[in-house]
Amino acid sequence: MVNYKDLGLVNTREMFAKAVDGGYAIPAFNFNNMEQLQAIIMAAVETKSPVILQISKGARQYANQTLLRYMAEGAVAYAKELGCEHPEIVLHLDHGDSFELCKNCIEMGFSSVMIDGSALPYDENVALTRKVVDFAHKYDVTVEGELGVLAGVEDEVAAEESHYTKPEEVIDFVTKTGVDSLAISIGTSHGAYKFTPEQCTVDPKTGRLVPPPLAFDVLEAIEKKLPGFPIVLHGSSSVPQEDVDTINKYGGALKAAVGIPEEQLRKAAKSAVCKINIDSDSRLAMTAAIRKTLAEKPAEFDPRKYLGPARDHMKELYIHKIVNVLGSNGKLSH
Ligand code: G3H
Ligand code: 13P
Ligand code: ZN
Repeated sequence: MVNYKDLGLVNTREMFAKAVDGGYAIPAFNFNNMEQLQAIIMAAVETKSPVILQISKGARQYANQTLLRYMAEGAVAYAKELGCEHPEIVLHLDHGDSFELCKNCIEMGFSSVMIDGSALPYDENVALTRKVVDFAHKYDVTVEGELGVLAGVEDEVAAEESHYTKPEEVIDFVTKTGVDSLAISIGTSHGAYKFTPEQCTVDPKTGRLVPPPLAFDVLEAIEKKLPGFPIVLHGSSSVPQEDVDTINKYGGALKAAVGIPEEQLRKAAKSAVCKINIDSDSRLAMTAAIRKTLAEKPAEFDPRKYLGPARDHMKELYIHKIVNVLGSNGKLSH
């Protein structure tokens, strides 16, 4: 049993309480490789922001769970080396789909886990989530549950249509399960194709697709039922059109990729939403930078020469999200 506290990691409890009170959100960035991790830590240190490092089931399969765990431990040391005396870094399992997976992660040093029972019938979601909470809380590991279904198809996380969270269920769910935070569905979805062109309108000035707004009425109804309770937004990439354009310019084929406008995320971050999940934007930033470098320097074959610019570009993206969207800059306790 590895205790996350021995690795210098923290759970989400205090971080979320402060974020709800302060009207900002903690960034939860997914990582699968060293360059993403370096960029996340550099951005968090430069902006003095707490940060959640998320590992999905797919990331564990891709990069190896042991390696990822040591990378997260290394991230704490790296943050200190970069000059942050008291980094606040959470190692979080994203979309855990079984008790065994959550237990395994907790035993390997994760400080927070998500058990995603949102596709199950309500009572089964409650029972599974309760089981994970009972185990996790023995080790002071925090647990995120989910109610409502996000639309979108992206690797392991798939759902045909979205079902908004029902505000009338949230008190019962939180009470029966004992979760520390709740992921909700209010119109976001995973991946770079969050809306079909038919769901969007066209901005006459730019010709860009404008997606329908998030269901802030549902969010407000949930907040009324659970005052001060930490709420999580998944599927919160904004799909920057500059990166989509760069990818397409240099040989890519991303058609009609549309994300959540940043002003809507800014509004959500000021509410009880205290954790905002971003993965696709980092993938787009990395891909755009790599495609550009390889297209402009076709003779280059040293990976550092294209992964380096990709890392720089992701770091810029993370800093932008922290400072201009989530507002978690300068929010470290020490
Ligand atoms: O919510 C899902 C994350 O973007 C992780 O995606 O399963 O492809 O690693 P993944
Ligand atoms: P995006 O695909 O919008 O980045 O969402 C990521 C996410 O929700 C990870 O759990
Ligand atoms: Zn998600």
